[in-house]
Parts: sequence; C-alpha cells; structure tokens
Amino acid sequence: MDIVIVGVGYVGLVTGACFAELGNTVYCVDKDPEKMELLRHGELPIYEPHLAQLVARNRAAGRLYFAEELADVLQQADVLFIAVGTPMSSDGSADLTAVFEVAAEIGQHLSKYLLIVNKSTVPVGTADRVKEIVAAKLAQRKALDICFDVASNPEFLKEGAAIDDFMKPDRVVVGVETEKAREIMTRLYKPMLLNNFRVLFMDVRSAEMTKYAANAMLATRISFMNELANLCERVGASVSSVRNGIGSDSRIGNRFLYAGCGYGGSCLPKDVRALECVAKENGLQFHLLDAVQRVNELQKTRLFAKFYDYFSGNIAGRRVAIWGLAFKPGTDDMREAPSLTLIRQLLEGGCLVQVYDPVAMPVARKILGESVVYGHDIYDSAMGVSAIFHVTEWKEYRMPDWRRLASLVAEPLLIDGRNVFEVADVKPFCYLHIG
Ligand SMILES: NC(=O)c1ccc[n+]([C@@H]2O[C@H](COP(=O)([O-])OP(=O)(O)OC[C@H]3O[C@@H](n4cnc5c(N)ncnc54)[C@H](O)[C@@H]3O)[C@@H](O)[C@H]2O)c1
Repeated sequence: MDIVIVGVGYVGLVTGACFAELGNTVYCVDKDPEKMELLRHGELPIYEPHLAQLVARNRAAGRLYFAEELADVLQQADVLFIAVGTPMSSDGSADLTAVFEVAAEIGQHLSKYLLIVNKSTVPVGTADRVKEIVAAKLAQRKALDICFDVASNPEFLKEGAAIDDFMKPDRVVVGVETEKAREIMTRLYKPMLLNNFRVLFMDVRSAEMTKYAANAMLATRISFMNELANLCERVGASVSSVRNGIGSDSRIGNRFLYAGCGYGGSCLPKDVRALECVAKENGLQFHLLDAVQRVNELQKTRLFAKFYDYFSGNIAGRRVAIWGLAFKPGTDDMREAPSLTLIRQLLEGGCLVQVYDPVAMPVARKILGESVVYGHDIYDSAMGVSAIFHVTEWKEYRMPDWRRLASLVAEPLLIDGRNVFEVADVKPFCYLHIG
C-alpha cells in the first residue's frame, strides 16, 4: 500500500518506518524543515532504540521517503495517517490546531479517494471535525464528488520500546464508519498480526475515547500507588511488599503499580488533563482525574522533601547529583519530566546541581541551559555531592561501584525515586526511597 504520514515525531516516524518494513511505500511529511533536513541526511531528530537502523534500511530499500510538501505526495496515498502533536492548551484541553491544519491541506489537494486515519491522540468528536473541514475545502473547490473516509487508530506505543510495541501490539484499536475503511485497515494490519489478529474494530468515537481512557487508567494506578506509598511510610509498611501482595491478584495484575517520583512524559499528563476537559465541556466533573493529577504534582516534590528533611532545611550551597533526566529510560523525551520539578526546587534552594543522563542531555541543555553542570558519567556527576538522586531508572545506573562513589561524594546519601535498589546493595550509602 502507499501510505502518507503527516507529522514525523515519535509516533509518526515509528509508524512510517514500521509500515515500510512490512513492504509498504511510505512518504513522511513534516512542517519542521530542520527535522526533515536531518532525516534526509540519514540522521534522526529523536532517540528511540533501533529506529535509526529501521529508517536507514527502508530508505535504502526505496520504501521510505521524506517529502517536502503534502501536496507532492498526497495523490500517491491509499491511506494517510495524521500523527501531528496535540499538545496541552493553556486551559488544559488538547490543542488540535495542527490536526485541523492537516485536514484543511488534505481538502485543498485531494483528487481521489483517501482513507484519513487519525493516529494523534484527540478528543471524542475530532474525526467528525476533520471530516467537516475536508468536506468544506472540497466544497470550495467544487470537488464534492471526491470521496474520503475518516478513521481513528490511536497509538499505544511506549517511547523506549516503540518499535516492539508497534510491531507486536497487545491490540490495535480502530474506529471506522464504512466497510471500505474497515477493509483497508484490515489489509494494513494483517501482515503484522498474522498469527493472532488483534484488531478491535469499533465506532470512531469509542476508539477516540479508548486512548484517553487507557492513559487515564494508567495514571490513576500510578497516583494510587504513590499515595499508598506515602501512607506506607507513615505506618511502617513497605509499598514494594504491598505491590507484590496486590499485583499477584489476577483481578489487579502487577503492571503500572510502581510507586515513584510521579509520572511525566508527552502523554499521561496532557491526556489526563484533556479527558478532564472533555468531561467538563460535557457538563461532568471527573473528580477522580482531578485527584490523580493533584497527587502526581505533589509526588514530583517528594524527593526534594526527603532531601530537605534529611538536612533539616540546611541545603543552600550543597552540591547534588541527578541521575536521569528523561521522563523514563529508553528515551530523550523530557516533556513534563519529574527531574525538572526536582531541579527547579534544588536550584531555588541554592543547591549546585550536577546531572547525568545517557541520552537526554542535549535535550536537557535546551531547557536548563547552563543552570546545571552536565557530567560525563555517574561518577563524574557525583563529585563532592551531598546527595545522589536516582530519578530515571536507566539500566546503566543499576550496578555502580558504591565504594568508589562513596570516595567521591561529600555525603553518602542516595535518594531513590524509582525504588530499584535495596539498602544492602548500596552500602555504605544511606538509602532513602519512596514508600
Ligand atoms: N510520544 C508518544 O509516546 C505517543 C504515544 C502515543 C500517542 N501519542 C500521540 O501521538 C501524537 C504525536 O505525538 P509525538 O510524540 O509523535 O509528537 P511530536 O511532537 O514528537 O511530533 C509531532 C510532529 O508533528 C509535526 N507537525 C505539527 N504540525 C504539523 C503540520 N501542520 N503539518 C505537518 N507536520 C506537523 C511537528 O513538527 C512534529 O515533528 C500526539 O497526539 C500524542 O499524544 C504519542
């Protein structure tokens, strides 16, 4: 099939490269000329494991192209995926400007049947609005005989494991209105799911809602565990033991039950907020989501509170090390990363902040500038510090030489925001963790 992807970010680039890998011809378009220039020179604008090889292989095979203009490739397409960003607006709702711009552009240039698929995360009703915009442009051109369908195919990939998630999804959710759209989406996903066809077809509105519901549920589990962890600390229970205790209940399951320093990233915070706005617009107060977000904001301040309490507020002038800046391992994405809240608090408290992250430091530099010192590795970042904060659970932090670290730091204090160590492992460090 010939596929056009509009928006070549984490989702668009992975989607394009994976569909090309399956033998389709894929044309990627993005309005960011710098990004496109990098891609045309064989470089990636983002970090995602194994993506560079996949892109290179499919470009070399003549199945993956990076085009200047949508109008240049639109006529080739059987299917077009909208994968542009839908960031948070100032009122918390999803900003759909980019989605609607793409819809207008499609309407201006469309000359034959096209299945338009929304892969961006969008509120219920967006497909209807995309349809209206395309139809209005076709009407302006007096080209109402050109047919098109709009489907919803929300993406559930996780940064850091995006290719695996895309190629071996738990399920694919597809909202369609017509048999033709259903048939095209079936053909598209069949090669990926030969052994077990896990495409869940539903109506478009339900597909749009499914994506928000999934992220809201995940965020709820995290906030629940975080609040439980704080209570465990008060009553002398261990949240890790409690997690094992409840996670082994098959009705609950053990995923997304880890207490820590709060969720971040490009999806959970904005999607939870957007769903809350959808509820409000429809006359409903989603009380639970309000609490989920408040708990998360508080949780992002927990590591600083532990540090502050440990030194009885005497923190000004102390050096500290931050291990991990990305919102999770396997990515350089720093959107809404808990590390940013912690660093802001530490800087405001007069601390000297030394950071190290294996991949996110170039992105961090754009946000933090020279307000922090960038280390070469975990040892370099630990020189003379009064505390090491473990914020992102990169594998390379798992087995450091604690004795060597103890000889470098001013105070052997480890504050673990991800609960991956045990007191005995980190000797001679004093170990503080969540819950
Ligand atoms: N990142 C994730 O892990 C993830 C997972 C699932 C779903 N999503 C959703 O997928 C969508 C894309 O997310 P992302 O993380 O890939 O975003 P991103 O910011 O990495 O990429 C979006 C791209 O769209 C481009 N763009 C914006 N307006 C455009 C226009 N009018 N024409 C062409 N290109 C345009 C931008 O230049 C950018 O390169 C969002 O709705 C997000 O919520 C993201």
